[in-house]
Amino acid sequence: MSNLIVLGAQWGDEGKGKMVDLFSEKFDYVVRYQGGHNAGHTVYVGAQKYVLKLIPSGILRPGVQAVIGNGVVIDPAALLDEIAMLDKLGIAVEKQLAISNRAHVIFPMHRIVEKMSEARKDRTAIGTTSRGIGPAYEDKISRRGIRIADLLDTDNFRKLFAVMVEDKKTIADAFGIPWDLDTDALRTQYEGFAERIRPMVRDTSFLLRDAMNANKPVLFEGAQGTMLDIDHGTYPFVTSSSAAAGGACTGAGVPPTRIDGVVGVSKAYITRVGGGPFPTEDHTEMGERIRAAGKEFGAVTGRPRRCGWFDVPLLKYTTAVNGFDSLIITKLDVLDELETIPVCVAYKVNGKLTDEMPATNSEMESIEAVYENLPGWHCSTRGLTTLDALPAAARTYLDFLQEKTGVEVGCVSLGPERSETIIVPGSKLEKLLA
Ligand code: GDP
Ligand code: IMO
Ligand code: MG
Repeated sequence: MSNLIVLGAQWGDEGKGKMVDLFSEKFDYVVRYQGGHNAGHTVYVGAQKYVLKLIPSGILRPGVQAVIGNGVVIDPAALLDEIAMLDKLGIAVEKQLAISNRAHVIFPMHRIVEKMSEARKDRTAIGTTSRGIGPAYEDKISRRGIRIADLLDTDNFRKLFAVMVEDKKTIADAFGIPWDLDTDALRTQYEGFAERIRPMVRDTSFLLRDAMNANKPVLFEGAQGTMLDIDHGTYPFVTSSSAAAGGACTGAGVPPTRIDGVVGVSKAYITRVGGGPFPTEDHTEMGERIRAAGKEFGAVTGRPRRCGWFDVPLLKYTTAVNGFDSLIITKLDVLDELETIPVCVAYKVNGKLTDEMPATNSEMESIEAVYENLPGWHCSTRGLTTLDALPAAARTYLDFLQEKTGVEVGCVSLGPERSETIIVPGSKLEKLLA
């Protein structure tokens, strides 16, 4: 049994939650390694819908140890809400969840700073989820952040908290931002949060290395997607963490040599929430049809997702960055009714074909997507459980994606539920899960 990273190959919302929940059955540990409650991972177990934000999707499997790694930023209020939501549904979260003592804490001050930054005329508005994610990571990198271990150490926490309040208030004052925080009440509230999470706080890096040494399989659950990665995504229209595969090792504190496989999750088309370049975006009625058929509205903010066509150059790029062993193609069923399906097979920048992903926003915006049109299949694929049962045009579509990206399609998802999934017999993915 392998240690596996499952992560987004596009701009997020690829269906990672569904796949991680499905695979969790075979793992002892499931770990989130970056991001925070900007993520929204939807899982259906029968008719019951769960939207997981901070807690790994593996929590829905009794006996699985869920881990929030050091690379995650935690808003304790959001975490406790999520725990309460799951508790109500009969999941014994406190028994199953370990929280890293090295993860950084999000405070309401981070949201104030973010709101200000997003509103400033001289700055690029990213279209963030407004959860304070970026400013919390800023504090981490600039070495003035407050970690979970600091939160649990009351004397130290009070000192660090006072400095953070002063810092953020200075910024708010400088930009004329209203400051309506009762910081004494806030400090007391966070001290209360500390006591509630204390029993779950651990050195999770130690926990995971121990697990790996005992040959217990670990599944790493990416949040966001590679094109939102702080280094490899469409900067500055990215999130503030390392969503790509490399982030799993730093964000969980495990050695790269212990990772056995990396799997990319991609929709059969593509979506994006928030601002930023999007070479295959479809602004026509076709884009609207996909949004309606795929129910493409954000799981966290409810914003309509921008929709477009499968982008081979983008997938080749995210494959190169992550070294995908296998691809999971989700939401193929959403294309069921289309007459023809465009797939972008190449990029032209300034009239010239290119194999590279441009680094600047202006070059990204100037990409001309070169398309090939594939025939649709005009029938429902929901509930099909073998590749042979798929209509020939759907198989051709999958073969085309596999051939053009150069990575095997190891799994196809044809609906939100666990059972609506085909794991390709003989695939590398099947072996990694065996
Ligand atoms: P994540 O952030 O990558 O976990 O993805 P989200 O949960 O934000 O968005 C994916 C959405 O698509 C969710 O509502 C899922 O229930 C749904 N979904 C996942 N796989 C499939 C699929 O194969 N077909 C359909 N129709 N819906 C799917
Ligand atoms: P999951 O894990 C899709 C986007 C936001 C915005 C940018 C920065 O569900 O796939 P942030 O609040 O992170 O600073 O916002 O990143 N974004 C996501 N888009 N899925 C997500 O998570 C996202 N998390 C952040 O819309 O464009
Ligand atoms: Mg999501």
